[in-house]
Amino acid sequence: MLQQISILGLTFITLILGAPGVGRAKSAVEGQKLYMTYCSSCHGDKGRGDGAAGKALPVKPADHTDGKLMNSLSDEFLMTIITKGGPAVDKSSFMPAWGGVLKDKQLQDLLAYIRSIAIPPKASGK
Ligand code: HEC
Repeated sequence: MLQQISILGLTFITLILGAPGVGRAKSAVEGQKLYMTYCSSCHGDKGRGDGAAGKALPVKPADHTDGKLMNSLSDEFLMTIITKGGPAVDKSSFMPAWGGVLKDKQLQDLLAYIRSIAIPPKASGK
């Protein structure tokens, strides 16, 4: 009986971890926390580019909820600007490099979060 229960439990866990989208949703939640800590001062609480510090900058951050704009940017581009900063993609140096501050997993969580707030969402596989 006990064994059956634990097998059931294992199956359940495997199902949850294996379910498509769950891993991504989880990291977007982590990403949101990181975004609030490290990014919202410039990018705004909701990613609209209206953070207090962002407003004062000569170059304004984009609206990360604007799907039309954000979906035109590749994962590679977003990862590069987040990891290496604005100058790495010929953008403003007011966008700092986070590669030395955050771990790979955290950078990926941030990307997942940014993707999750864009409306309309980015079609998968593109
Ligand atoms: C000191 C202010 C500041 C902070 C903090 C900051 N950014 Fe930025 N970020 C900018 C500015 C300014 C730009 C626009 C650069 C340009 O267009 O030349 C930018 C651009 C970007 C872009 C490209 C799209 C866009 O908005 O133009 C992404 C993605 C981005 N930042 C992600 C992040 C993430 C993730 C964090 C937190 C880990 C973060 N930024 C923290 C200022 C900041």
